[in-house]
Amino acid sequence: MSTVPDVSTEPNIVILSSPEEVDSMAAQHVIKQIHNKPDSVLTLPTGATPVGMYKLLVKAYQDGQVDFQHVTVLNLDEYWPISKNHQESYLQFMYRNFFAHINIPEKNRLIPNGEAKDPEEEATYYESIIQKYGPPDLAVLGIGPGTTCHIGFNEKGSTRNSRVRYVLLDQETRIANAKFFHDIDEVPTGALTQGIADILEAKSILMLAKGPGKAWGIHRSLYGPIGPEAPASFIRDNPSVTVLLDLESASQLPKA
Ligand code: PGA
Repeated sequence: MSTVPDVSTEPNIVILSSPEEVDSMAAQHVIKQIHNKPDSVLTLPTGATPVGMYKLLVKAYQDGQVDFQHVTVLNLDEYWPISKNHQESYLQFMYRNFFAHINIPEKNRLIPNGEAKDPEEEATYYESIIQKYGPPDLAVLGIGPGTTCHIGFNEKGSTRNSRVRYVLLDQETRIANAKFFHDIDEVPTGALTQGIADILEAKSILMLAKGPGKAWGIHRSLYGPIGPEAPASFIRDNPSVTVLLDLESASQLPKA
């Protein structure tokens, strides 16, 4: 049974024939948002999924099709603890894949501090930043691997009202993310993440998923009960959701 009141607007689920089409439609969606509102506030994700979208956004910027000068980015999450110089910190990820190549002013690139001494204090601070700049116009999200159904690092058990906080990562998440590190012991045990409430307050949500490893979680989150057992299911509480899927990640959805 649903633990939260239902809203009438169903997510717009778009199934595309290739991962590259997901990248392309995602980039177009973001560009349209910025054309409509040049000073958009965007919540943005990291991970393997959005890399292609960032490449296309960089290309669009280089081709003069979009200007990020007035955009503000609120990143979804960051490992804690992690050095700002660590190649796998989300700060470095964002710099390498996006910030280094476009014109978002440095002061508008907001991301939790993985080097903060006290993660609880940093969480309170980052929440105040979200309140200051938000609510975001658009939150772009991935979804966690396997059965995690996480958004940001909101692992199973995350509640509808959760805010920015320090969390321990599920073992399933650490195993999946070990591919980015030399071995699993190097994957940080915790993270700072925007909460479900922060994410849902975005005026619209764009979720991206690719590959067979996302098929179970996409089906569970879009068709199962809404609640903390599948944190991504909460996106259905936002009235303006678009989900872009390739054929593999959509493979467990009911056929039209
Ligand atoms: P991925 O990560 O894009 O690397 O699959 C998504 C996530 O864990 O939210």
